[in-house]
Amino acid sequence: MENEKKVMLSGIQPSGDLTLGSYLGAIKHWGARAEEFDCYYFMADMHSITVRQDPAALRRRTLEQLAQYIACGLDPEKNTLFIQSHVPEQACLGWVLNCYTMFGELSRMTQFKDKSAKNKENINGGLFTYPALMAADILAYQPDFVPVGEDQKQHVELTRNVAQRFNSIYGETFKIPEPYIPKVGARIMSLSDPTSKMSKSDKDPNGSIYLMERREDILRKFKRAVTDCDTERCVRWDPAAKPGVANLMQIYSACTGKPYEDIEREFDGLGYGAFKPAVGEAVADLLQPIREESGRLLADKAYLESVYRAGAEKASHTAWKTLRKVYKKVGFVAR
Ligand code: TRP
Repeated sequence: MENEKKVMLSGIQPSGDLTLGSYLGAIKHWGARAEEFDCYYFMADMHSITVRQDPAALRRRTLEQLAQYIACGLDPEKNTLFIQSHVPEQACLGWVLNCYTMFGELSRMTQFKDKSAKNKENINGGLFTYPALMAADILAYQPDFVPVGEDQKQHVELTRNVAQRFNSIYGETFKIPEPYIPKVGARIMSLSDPTSKMSKSDKDPNGSIYLMERREDILRKFKRAVTDCDTERCVRWDPAAKPGVANLMQIYSACTGKPYEDIEREFDGLGYGAFKPAVGEAVADLLQPIREESGRLLADKAYLESVYRAGAEKASHTAWKTLRKVYKKVGFVAR
């Protein structure tokens, strides 16, 4: 056996800047996975162009995300990190799988419905067939698990259906992957609206903290963070009655490792005026090394290039093994 470890694969669209929410909720935990799994992570640039992108910004964010993942602890020696458009086998498999994905199935995808409602002037074919490319992204690597957020579960379900359909026509070809929705990881909410998730595509820049943000901006945003307008104004864990304070406590706890009781005691009698800047400082301290390391990596273009080239080479090798099998099964003449 070439590889005894179970395989995990995930893609991230370089369509927005990474936030504190993505770090605390997800990326922070990824580094440790490499001990147990053979992990592939790619920047889904081909998916990003289903919505119009500024070319320079797309290129910048693709490299920035790569640098940030490495700075957040994804070791390129232990993980395969690559850019989707560098592995043409994925797109070729995407075409084949398009022909095994039904119009009706694609019409039911909630992300398509949402995105086409938001981009009425550009409801293109790519936006519609995106899940078939995503199925190819996944199935090319024969992974056991696909870590995704709730919003992507439907696409992974579709992937399983397409794989089963193909297997039932042509015999065992694809491993059927499981969605993997990690239980660990905080759900960080917007600083300006604690009822909605902190998101890289939030229109209000004061709601999100970005990984590359400067200390003074972080401090300013936390000072302005929405707390709750109850009269007691004390730091107490009560997510139902005090969602804003609960969100800040969650962030502070994730940054410092302190449990909620300790935080309540620390700010007993001090109120929000002392608490909010303290959370800002803790976040700024947490993000500073990540920002500095990302900046250093971004300046080292040769290094980043060596990482994504090696990643693409390894990914291509794996994806081609699957594609070759698929081409043969559907009846293409071998080159
Ligand atoms: N569709 C995912 C998103 O929008 C990104 C993605 C593309 C992906 N291909 C993937 C995720 C394959 C997991 C596996 O977030």
